[in-house]
Amino acid sequence: MRLNSPKMNIMYRACTKASKSIIRDFGEIEKLQVSSKGPGDFVTAADKKAEKIIIEELLKADPKCGVLSEEVGEINKDNKDNRWIIDPIDGTLNFLNGVPQFAISIGYEEKGEIISGIIFDPIKDEMFFAEKGGGAFLNNSRIRVSNKNKLKDSYLVTGGPKADSKKREEIFEEYKKISNNVDAPVRKFGSAALDIANVACGRFDGYWQWELKYWDIAAGIIILKEAGGFIEFMESNEKNWIKKNIIATNSKIHQELMGSLLKKNIE
Ligand code: IPD
Ligand code: CA
Ligand code: CA
Repeated sequence: MRLNSPKMNIMYRACTKASKSIIRDFGEIEKLQVSSKGPGDFVTAADKKAEKIIIEELLKADPKCGVLSEEVGEINKDNKDNRWIIDPIDGTLNFLNGVPQFAISIGYEEKGEIISGIIFDPIKDEMFFAEKGGGAFLNNSRIRVSNKNKLKDSYLVTGGPKADSKKREEIFEEYKKISNNVDAPVRKFGSAALDIANVACGRFDGYWQWELKYWDIAAGIIILKEAGGFIEFMESNEKNWIKKNIIATNSKIHQELMGSLLKKNIE
């Protein structure tokens, strides 16, 4: 690992430890898919197991550190200065269906700002990580966003809408509109964390999505910034601060992509 601050080492340890359990469980999915019960409960258990390993490891060094994690919610809620933001498995639907596109995502926040983060895809063995001012990396190599500067030539990724979204139709309409402005089909890969990481390393030129949660993208914020990208939140709502609508790009196509969104504030 190219960055070795204490925080980065802690995240790295938590990630590698949890990934062993996730890989083992992913190996069981195939068997469960053909069983009559299906893998649903098993996946929930796998998620919780991974989360427990991650939180235990992260809190070992500083038991008073705050935590916001998808399954357990908040721990040490009063600590507003230091906080871990965790998604133990981002891409659960892929995991559940035996599709190898999911990741562990851990961001570290100081006084409300994400200053370091890790996104680990245990199947491809790809670890994306970054620290404020230290650059962004994929395994041992420095990463940068792509150079494309025209939306039309861009390779884009998005996700959603969720089944219960009140904005389903608008989101589909917007997908259609943006698809008509680009040559290549707009992809949906089903892991927000990996979608951002893939913009950070130049595989995609841009990503946008409505109705995400903070843990989906916390680590991605710093990884993309340190790779030279630009991330923007639309219609942030103080009361519902966990919910995030985002555009994350290589920065060069940012304005054009933003301008193509159906409505800037969809909610
Ligand atoms: C989901 C993934 C997916 C996004 C959903 C998220 P989960 O997270 O990031 O790409 O479209 O909105 O909820 O549930 O797999 O952790
Ligand atoms: Ca998630
Ligand atoms: Ca999750």
